[in-house]
Amino acid sequence: MNDQTIFKTSQLEAADAAPRNHTANPTMGELISARFSRRGFLQGSLAVSAIAATVSPLALLTAQDARAEESGSAFSFTEVEAGIDEAHHVAEGYDADILLRWGDAIFADAPEFDPTAQTAAAQARQFGYNNDYVGYIPLEGSSEHGLLVVNHEYTNPHLMFPGLVTLVEGEMTLNPLTKEQVDVELMAHGGTIVEIRKVDGKWQVVKDGQYNRRITAETEMQLTGPAAGHDRLKTNADATGTKVFGTVNNCAGGVTPWGTYVMAEENIHGYFAGELPADHPEAANYDRLGIPEGSYEWANFYDRFDVSKEPNEPNRFGYIVEVDVMDPNSVPKKRTALGRFKHEGAESIVNKDGRVVFYLGDDERFDYVYKFVTAGKFNPDDRAANMDLLDQGTLHVAKFADDGTIQWLPLVHGEGTLTAENGFASQADVIIETRRAADLLGATKMDRPEDIQPNGVNGKVYVMLTNNTRREPGQEDAANPRAENAFGHIIEITEADGDFAAADGTWEILLKCGDPSIADVGATFSTDTTVNGWFGMPDNCAVDSLGRLWVSTDGNSPSGTGRTDGLWAVDTEGPARATSKLFFRVPVGAEMCGPLFTPDDETAFVAVQHPGDGGDDWEGFGRVSYYEDLSTRWPDFDDAMPVRPSVVAITKQGGGKIAV
Ligand code: FEO
Ligand code: CA
Ligand code: CA
Ligand code: CA
Repeated sequence: MNDQTIFKTSQLEAADAAPRNHTANPTMGELISARFSRRGFLQGSLAVSAIAATVSPLALLTAQDARAEESGSAFSFTEVEAGIDEAHHVAEGYDADILLRWGDAIFADAPEFDPTAQTAAAQARQFGYNNDYVGYIPLEGSSEHGLLVVNHEYTNPHLMFPGLVTLVEGEMTLNPLTKEQVDVELMAHGGTIVEIRKVDGKWQVVKDGQYNRRITAETEMQLTGPAAGHDRLKTNADATGTKVFGTVNNCAGGVTPWGTYVMAEENIHGYFAGELPADHPEAANYDRLGIPEGSYEWANFYDRFDVSKEPNEPNRFGYIVEVDVMDPNSVPKKRTALGRFKHEGAESIVNKDGRVVFYLGDDERFDYVYKFVTAGKFNPDDRAANMDLLDQGTLHVAKFADDGTIQWLPLVHGEGTLTAENGFASQADVIIETRRAADLLGATKMDRPEDIQPNGVNGKVYVMLTNNTRREPGQEDAANPRAENAFGHIIEITEADGDFAAADGTWEILLKCGDPSIADVGATFSTDTTVNGWFGMPDNCAVDSLGRLWVSTDGNSPSGTGRTDGLWAVDTEGPARATSKLFFRVPVGAEMCGPLFTPDDETAFVAVQHPGDGGDDWEGFGRVSYYEDLSTRWPDFDDAMPVRPSVVAITKQGGGKIAV
């Protein structure tokens, strides 16, 4: 969800809340920083502005295909036309098949989806709502048989339940949810692990797969690492501070080198309601995270989501959760060593010394980019030896300097300002208040860090910064160079000496997003990028086995960018660098999540999240969209079925690697 989503009743993500970082860390650059003027300005804003002033969008359009070919793009496919309608669209010569829809049975004995008679018990056996992260864990090394792991980030009751919405003068109000509906929401959250297999070129769900599992907001989990067992994590239900039920708002995530599934807990604030007791010691901690925000109604039925009754419960959320997918009865572990904040994703890479490095974004305006370096080394020959690697290591936060260098500052208790004097009695305190610790270290306030992807082929790291319309003129710095940054940008990091665990490195901006034909936007797509190829609001990303970057977006809209979200192929190398092409686009109201490539690059899985959530600003609909009156009934287009978030499998007709 992004800040162009207007429904008051929608569940809020960070973008909709006020910025939570109230520290006075100085912004680093001048209006146009030294770095910006040295390289970025000449290559980027000035060049594109000059071109944009002299080249009309029509001219860009007519020149498009020829130029993309000549530029040496690493991607070979015919671009999709950007636009807006009820359907999805994929590049010519490819199939985009619906693999898993909200409500689909993922067990042989699960009930069929019946939207008019939803129960928590049924939902717990069916694919959850709002698929976000998609991962693939091969079985016996296969690219045609494996486990698909999918996060279910949040729920949209106005699209899920019949009879909930009343329109008053075109504005939507929602009846309170019943307990059963709230329980459906709890079961629609979390994740899905499901066996899939490619048969005659088409992916199928294996409903009786032995590893199939639903993880929900009630699944029992264990807290591990430095914060586990701390007094600040103890509740009436759990005197040990180590046992917690459920995970929520799992946005992006990752698959570890040892084949576990990691889920990032992002916007946890919305699930908590009530008022903290007066002068409660967690008040400042919770304020920094916007807790309680109370957009969900769960606290009406469950005391643990009411901070007046269970003031410590929010300290048990905001972590990276690790799931051993090979044991469907395993207890997922909340790995506190990776910090507590609004975790976006957790993509990782094995460093040259064998340690494993996880890149972590904290998705809120003016929050930070992190990485976690394990203390131990990955053992490729002994899976069991890796299973607790995430409990020991060092969390770092990024400081982007205006000379193009980056420093990774360790968040270690007792070092620098992270002392008892500043309210950190132990590493547990550093973890529980990761944001405040990072504030004290002087980390760089970013434009909403989303997915961060290390690229093992070219050795770089790509940081998606989705937008920050609250950065005011004068608050720019070299790494966040635009005030009122509505369209976001992508940073490319090069770690020192090819060492992903390094304490420093360099960075540059790969791309400033937005419409390059409008000079004031300051977008820096290459001039080979067509009218279809540019995008705003990068969110998730992936690299395929050739090291090519694919970016999916959250927040393109009819009124904002005149296009839906989608999956774009973005060149990073050679003269084609910063050329972007549209490969797939989503139906109206949706956001594009995933993406994920199988190891053979023959399948791209993408997740279409919250389709039909919007359409009032699209001339093809032009009013509020809700269960009874939807802007799209994708993917079934059946009047008896609501719109359904779904995972889509994209393959080349006749087989072969994608975009080759
Ligand atoms: Fe859930 Fe930051 O997107
Ligand atoms: Ca999302
Ligand atoms: Ca995201
Ligand atoms: Ca987002």
